[in-house]
Amino acid sequence: MKTINYYSSAYRTAFSHINGVVIMGETHAAQHFQKLAKAIHQDHDELMALAAMEARHARDFVGCGRELGITAAIPMARRLFQPLHSHFCTALKGGCLVRPMVIQGLIIECFAIAAYHCYLPVADPYAKKITAKVIDDEHLHLNYAERWLKANFAEQQEVIAECCRTELATTMTILKELWQHLVAIGIDPAEVVAEFVSLFNDTLIAIGFHQNRARAIGAAAIARALA
Ligand SMILES: [Fe+2]
Ligand SMILES: [Fe+2]
Repeated sequence: MKTINYYSSAYRTAFSHINGVVIMGETHAAQHFQKLAKAIHQDHDELMALAAMEARHARDFVGCGRELGITAAIPMARRLFQPLHSHFCTALKGGCLVRPMVIQGLIIECFAIAAYHCYLPVADPYAKKITAKVIDDEHLHLNYAERWLKANFAEQQEVIAECCRTELATTMTILKELWQHLVAIGIDPAEVVAEFVSLFNDTLIAIGFHQNRARAIGAAAIARALA
């Protein structure tokens, strides 16, 4: 693997964008789990615990930026996340739980796990320790959504499928905008996509979709969005 100069201006510029997106993603995740906790009373305490983890992740990644002396590109990150975040909030306000759960629990969590996993081998030593711990937490969050969606699969499978198709397209626009920044910090974005597709597919099957349907909802939708 080629050596990475964490202090080159090219690395720092790209990292400020990636760090901004990570901080914004974690901040939204904390808000999303707090909102879900209010809406799903029987899981209130568990969801508030997940929200607290996300808030800690945001603080920890702020620390990673500080360690490298960079300023996170927050305004760009806020703009990138706006569509997903507003789809989450509008659906929840309208009394829908499936779309918010798909957006945060399924798509954002799978995306975070895939991206953090690809970042791990190229991260600076400070960020590496933090990222490894965060990945473990994100698996817990994905696991919560997987259980919830599985329990609601029989009545909601068509809604879940439609939400995946729509929101995956929204999410892939974020990835496309970050593509060159990912390359500049040593991550192959195609590898992030491959890990995401594989994890997403496994999760859809675990929720209850048959293999072919899972592939059509996940992999095929992602390929179309990136074409
Ligand atoms: Fe997180
Ligand atoms: Fe998470």
